[in-house]
Amino acid sequence: MTDAPGLHPDTGGPGSLLDLRTPCALVDRAILDRNTERMAARATRLDVRLRPHVKTHTCVPAARLQVRGHFGGITVSTLAEARYFAEAGFGDITHAFPFPMAAIEDAVRIAHKIERLTLLVDQESTLEALDAFCLSRGERFSVMLKVDCGYHRAGVDPRGDEGIALALRLASSPHLEFGGILAHAGHAYACRDADEIRTVAAQERDVTVEFGARLRAEGLEVPEVSIGSTPTIGLADDLEGVTEVRPGNYAFHDVFQATIGTCALDDVAFSVLASVVGRYPDRGALIVDAGALALSKDPGPVHVDPDCGFGVVVSEDGRERHGDLRVVSLSQEHGVIRGAGIERFPVGSRLRILPNHSCLAAASFDRYRIVNGDEIVDEWRPVRGW
Ligand SMILES: Cc1ncc(COP(=O)(O)O)c(C=O)c1O
Repeated sequence: MTDAPGLHPDTGGPGSLLDLRTPCALVDRAILDRNTERMAARATRLDVRLRPHVKTHTCVPAARLQVRGHFGGITVSTLAEARYFAEAGFGDITHAFPFPMAAIEDAVRIAHKIERLTLLVDQESTLEALDAFCLSRGERFSVMLKVDCGYHRAGVDPRGDEGIALALRLASSPHLEFGGILAHAGHAYACRDADEIRTVAAQERDVTVEFGARLRAEGLEVPEVSIGSTPTIGLADDLEGVTEVRPGNYAFHDVFQATIGTCALDDVAFSVLASVVGRYPDRGALIVDAGALALSKDPGPVHVDPDCGFGVVVSEDGRERHGDLRVVSLSQEHGVIRGAGIERFPVGSRLRILPNHSCLAAASFDRYRIVNGDEIVDEWRPVRGW
């Protein structure tokens, strides 16, 4: 990461998009600022603390923007992220992924460096193994219980009794600190519009808050009721009973969010700069050098727009949307664009593509060029791996 804005990463001098080899990842600084400010203000207005997920970008400067005005806690999904952000001075980190015991030594090392590393469980066997490990090694961890609020990916059933038993077992351990309950409404991504998202947001809140009340009725203290996704927190009206939210994608947003009604396309901060490497007027196609390795093969919001393809095409400077062009297919390095007016784009011309899913597209790159219009103002390096 360079701290000196305006330096071109390849040449060392002031940079412009023209100097960049493609494909490369661009982050629009002004949009990132706006997205992070908006979400921080929203969390304040909803009277919850913001523990942003940093998985979308996995880099320190963007995480610092996300926590502005809040307590500084973050959410990660890998221990590589936890280690990297701990080393960068983030002191309160929640690893919001069912904890893999094979990584316990890593977790211990990280936990010793910071104020609090919180782990997540929903399996009795993991809880028992964690408890036994802490007993044998004299360690202590903060642990949250994952609750299934309707996504049905992971988490205890909030209506059943197993979750209650697990929480009681967790809270009874002298080596574990019960940090509270955590849910994620990933099913919000199946919504078609803002009204549907608001309904899922209310469900995420109600299911989790009610489960918290069941635990309290059992005599448990539930310090944190943590929920959140970008769609649900972006559109929730009221979060009574919730203490903490963990949206992440909003920092960059993407075509998926814009299509389901979480944001506008103008709010998408992340794009992939690509070059036209082939023009085939007879079959109405352009080939660009951004394939699946640059954009990911996330099929996008096909439940809303079956022909959405693999991203929205905009001009090199990001200012003009080429709504008549579609990224219709991807192979590993090739992107195929079809639509009216391909003759405007000779070989060597450049386009930006707003991806369906910015988290996955960003994960393909080892650096982001931070841009202001077509000027490169900085370069940020994300952490990768597990
Ligand atoms: C457990 C958990 N919390 C929070 C988030 C952030 O949600 P979003 O990506 O919608 O911002 C995710 C994303 O997958 C998640 O898995």
